Amino acid sequence: MKNIAIDGPAGAGKSTAAKIVAKKLGILYLDTGAMYRAIGFKALKQSLDTKNSQQIESILKDTSVEIKYIDGVQNIFLDGENITQYIRQNDVSMAASDVSAIPAVRIKLVEIQREIAKNNDCILDGRDIGTYVLPNAKYKFYITATAEERAKRRYKELSEKGQNISFEEVLQNIIVRDKNDSEREFAPLKKADDAYEFDTTTMSIDDVVKELLSKIK
Ligand code: DC
Repeated sequence: MKNIAIDGPAGAGKSTAAKIVAKKLGILYLDTGAMYRAIGFKALKQSLDTKNSQQIESILKDTSVEIKYIDGVQNIFLDGENITQYIRQNDVSMAASDVSAIPAVRIKLVEIQREIAKNNDCILDGRDIGTYVLPNAKYKFYITATAEERAKRRYKELSEKGQNISFEEVLQNIIVRDKNDSEREFAPLKKADDAYEFDTTTMSIDDVVKELLSKIK
């Protein structure tokens, strides 16, 4: 099986590029962040403290997170309901980052990710794919960009979706999530030793796709 791991902080261009690469190679794309977003979304809906591991762990047993591909597009189902359209908001991003620091959450979701990767040629994007989820992935990438550039991209994306949020707020969110995600103890955001790293700050998505494809044989 051919698995490709792409890790890096929010807004580095992972998902946009990974989707295009997956299409070009005719393989599956798995956005693992959507799964953490699903748990974060549920925690917010139930007014739980997203940093409180006891509270979050108490809902895990009765929580089902499923990935289904509808017309080739990944949809995420939480307890049987398609919540794909609700998970991109800024508050869900923060909640996802919070719950992702809780080991029990990661263990539950990583099991699903490994199962999908075992049964399909696929490209996965996340924070810990090359280091923890699939340490034996055939190709590993770690992509970055400055926080300002990543915030600019996220701000544009959110504004286009009609979300009312300031650039400053988006930048703050990115900075806090970078810190959360890279400083947590269990499977933090980190470059795998054998990952190919590049910075996308001045690159277009086309350039990023070309760079990825040039390394994938
Ligand atoms: O990729 P994203 O922005 O949709 O991810 C949302 C949050 O989920 C991110 O801030 C950290 C967490 N996450 C993670 O811990 N591990 C992953 N493999 C993917 C996401």
